[in-house]
Amino acid sequence: MEGLIKKLDKNISAMVQISMLHIFQIGLKYGIFTRLTEDKSYNDILNLISFGNKPLLKELLDTYVKLGVLKREGERLLMDEFSYTVRLSPESAPYIIPGWVSIFEEIYRMIDYASITPEHPKILMDFDKDADFWDMRLSLEFNSIYRKIIAKAGNLKDEMRVLDLGCGSVSPIEIGQFLGPNGKYVGVDFSPGILSIAESRVKGAGFDWVTLRELDIRKAVPRNRYDAVIMSFVLEYIDSIGRVIKTAMNALESGGRLIIVEPFKENYPNICAWEFFEKLTKEFNSFPTKSAILGALENSPHEFKLKELGNSVLIITKL
Ligand SMILES: C[S@@+](CC[C@H](N)C(=O)[O-])C[C@H]1O[C@@H](n2cnc3c(N)ncnc32)[C@H](O)[C@@H]1O
Repeated sequence: MEGLIKKLDKNISAMVQISMLHIFQIGLKYGIFTRLTEDKSYNDILNLISFGNKPLLKELLDTYVKLGVLKREGERLLMDEFSYTVRLSPESAPYIIPGWVSIFEEIYRMIDYASITPEHPKILMDFDKDADFWDMRLSLEFNSIYRKIIAKAGNLKDEMRVLDLGCGSVSPIEIGQFLGPNGKYVGVDFSPGILSIAESRVKGAGFDWVTLRELDIRKAVPRNRYDAVIMSFVLEYIDSIGRVIKTAMNALESGGRLIIVEPFKENYPNICAWEFFEKLTKEFNSFPTKSAILGALENSPHEFKLKELGNSVLIITKL
């Protein structure tokens, strides 16, 4: 388990680092840093840079400000003194999985298309329209790593009942395989495109203990009780996480576990560089903080025990 957790965390750190390099590259490519030496106002800069999608350009400039690359002084936008060090140690290198790098390169390339027009600012990582791209992404070894962590952390086995909120196209079989004919896996997702890919895999595998439901988890009210509830890489699409966490806790049996996997913001400095690219999906909000999750748990009526595994997994046991 320790090796899996290190693998998860070290790959997430590498994702943040590579996103930092690419966000700098965009600044160079579109002449943004050059313009900033001209002592212009924020609005002038927005208009002068040839990047047709102004809302996305605004996100980019705001991300540079958050990272400390640029600073705002009243109406002016200025370069700040900034340096960034990429870290790779002999200790970390063996944990890095190459597979995700080419998917991230695709995402970085999408920015060039998204830069063209403000009419379709979030066009290229849609859960429904681009379900095949999402399926490729969710099929990576990186994603299997955290699903194995989920299975171990939840002690998943046949006879258990599992609810997966925002299940995507791959977890129904990868998590479903840890259960069996006496168990029950219910996967909930709001994307028909994603669900149809999941459905064909589940049928092919003959996992008749796996059920899929098309629902928005912001509105869902589960009627049944489960031994485990999973939310992996989904809270980042929810703008007000309190209600969804309450739903998840309500759906748990006493002694059941809620397992959350996310790159918690406190643990990954500069993660807003990665967030900038994830905004190509219109529902993306922000990676959650542990403190927001804890606040939501404290506001729910349930007693709980919290355990952290590394920097990206929380296990909440309902008492
Ligand atoms: C990044 S994917 C993660 C999928 C899966 N949990 C995994 O780890 O492989 C996010 C998934 O959440 C779904 N999703 C996002 N917001 C949702 C919502 N409000 N209701 C239901 N599903 C949602 C998306 O359609 C997508 O399949």
